[in-house]
Amino acid sequence: MKFIHLSDLHILSRNDMSRKPDAAATLRKVIGEVNALHRDAEICVITGDITHRGTSEQYEHAVDILSELAIPYLVIPGNHDIREAFRDAFPTTDIDANGFVNFGQTIGGVRFVMMDSIVPDHHHGTLCDRRLAWLRDELAAHRDTPTFLFMHHPPFEMGLPFMDTIRLDVEHELGEIVQANRQIKHLFFGHLHRPATGTWLGVPFVLANSTQCGEPLDFRHEKEEELEDRNPLGPGYGIGFTDPKGGLRYHFDFVKFDMDL
Ligand SMILES: [Fe+2]
Repeated sequence: MKFIHLSDLHILSRNDMSRKPDAAATLRKVIGEVNALHRDAEICVITGDITHRGTSEQYEHAVDILSELAIPYLVIPGNHDIREAFRDAFPTTDIDANGFVNFGQTIGGVRFVMMDSIVPDHHHGTLCDRRLAWLRDELAAHRDTPTFLFMHHPPFEMGLPFMDTIRLDVEHELGEIVQANRQIKHLFFGHLHRPATGTWLGVPFVLANSTQCGEPLDFRHEKEEELEDRNPLGPGYGIGFTDPKGGLRYHFDFVKFDMDL
């Protein structure tokens, strides 16, 4: 089963050209490639930061561009999203009993668990007690189904001091859940805007490309305004292949784009 992974779209309002590269143009380019090359994918998973500021104008623009996707998509928010506006923009996206954008769906024999890790008005992430309880219940209800867990914020340090300060703040609590539920075969995050992989507590993870551009690969600075970018990374996305046992083969792809546009 093939799936597509998009993340960190950072869409602005129509005609707002205040950030480069133009996130609407890069997303259209990515979607064009997906439609041309990956129409056979079952689903497209989008791990947050749909908009840059969470305004209704930005969501309207994002939803319009995403309507060009030839395959269905699942979407969760990131730190640049605003939950209420997000839910209004994606009314068919499931929410849990507490209003968080948490849901699970079985696709190709694999449980895709999507989680809302955002904290209003902050850039770091969390899973509060209610969200941790939802995750424990979701996993308990599907203990025999290989599971992929998706959320915007990674819980562990990646050696990038700035991004490490705005990661998920419940590393220990989520770690206990991951270790107690061995059906979790892979973890997927956004937020870093960098293609990266590794393992955490023995479970492999993927950090997704941004469909707009990379964040600086800066291993020295803690302050965002000091970040240096030696090698700016263009827009990209991920292509995953899985099997009913929860195996994963994953490609990071990039699209050609003039970064000054
Ligand atoms: Fe982002």
